[in-house]
Amino acid sequence: MIKLRNKKSAFYINVFKKFSPIVLVIAALMLYGCSDSSTGANGSSPGNGAGNGGEEIGTEPTFNNVSQIFSSTCAPCHINASDSGVRLDSYENVMNSVGDQYGILVVQPGDANGSPLVDKIESSNPQFGVRMPENESPLSSARINQIRTWINDGAENGSNGNDEDDNGGSDY
Ligand code: HEC
Repeated sequence: MIKLRNKKSAFYINVFKKFSPIVLVIAALMLYGCSDSSTGANGSSPGNGAGNGGEEIGTEPTFNNVSQIFSSTCAPCHINASDSGVRLDSYENVMNSVGDQYGILVVQPGDANGSPLVDKIESSNPQFGVRMPENESPLSSARINQIRTWINDGAENGSNGNDEDDNGGSDY
């Protein structure tokens, strides 16, 4: 019996030895397939951030990104033009624009709530005129928050600009 059992187990071991590589390969493939699809799902969403439906503007609240929002949504009226006293095509122009209606700088550094520019993009019923961009759908709340944060952080230039080293007064 003992001999037979040994023979039997030897047989099973042989069978296992014979097939285990295949089993292992199949198991490995299944594991690989699973982990591949899960990392694929996890990895693809952040990776797609830049190329998602033409949304190529970064989400950090830097002037670099904010100015791209302006050029893509506030043209042609405030880019190379200054409808109602507002010109948004350079840092200097953004910071120096005084709206004809509000009568103050449209960007009040450190005070998004007090900035006419925020009132005009955020409120469906701004203090003066209509919501911006005029005749277009409103900015997403993510974009509005991005502009808000940039203003509340001091409405600074650069800091995201790798090629603007001499421009960044900020040391961080
Ligand atoms: C199609 C043209 C057009 C576009 C696009 C547009 N604006 Fe305007 N904007 C105007 C006009 C016209 C006014 C004055 C009438 C009004 O306030 O409704 C104005 C007024 C403003 C004012 C108030 C200035 C004042 O008189 O005190 C701000 C701030 C402003 N726009 C910001 C923006 C921003 C930011 C964008 C982009 C998100 C934008 N606008 C897009 C035409 C435009």
